[in-house]
Amino acid sequence: MSVDGAGDRAGTARPYRICLVCLGNICRSPMAEVVLRDVLERRGLGDVVVVDSAGTGGWHVGEPMDERAAETLAAAGYDGSRHRARRFEPAWFAERDLVLAMDRDNLRTLRRLAPEGADVRLLRSFDPDAPEDAEVPDPYYGGREGFVRVLEMIEAAAEGVAEHAARAVGRAPERR
Ligand code: 4NP
Repeated sequence: MSVDGAGDRAGTARPYRICLVCLGNICRSPMAEVVLRDVLERRGLGDVVVVDSAGTGGWHVGEPMDERAAETLAAAGYDGSRHRARRFEPAWFAERDLVLAMDRDNLRTLRRLAPEGADVRLLRSFDPDAPEDAEVPDPYYGGREGFVRVLEMIEAAAEGVAEHAARAVGRAPERR
């Protein structure tokens, strides 16, 4: 695969697969999964770009999204009700084209597990207004306002991820 994941996939039938990863898979990465899927569907890419999420830790496997995360999403018009937490498995690298970490700890963990050539980056590196190493901070032990900030950061990065994916599947980015 080329460095930015684009070019060599044009015309292929296989979808482009993105996994969003945080620590517990009950706050940040499931919020990012819901938001990114919404952006992709609005751009007509819902069938060719597949999104899922996982945590690097396994404490919450099988649980729904944190209720503060689900409520923050619902207040903004998204539906987070179907989520169930999973732990990231190293074998998944072979089944994903892009793995996006929410913070630098998750990034380090993923890069330790990743095979040579895996495309593992920070989600916010796709936000043109954020520094390259910007993180989505863990909101778990804070208040509800932390979840609102998390949603803003995710929304600011999601368009850039969608444009990257659109190029990777050979579709010209389409602005709405
Ligand atoms: P997340 O938040 O990584 O955004 O899902 C957390 C959820 C649970 C824990 C930490 C962070 N925890 O320590 O249980």
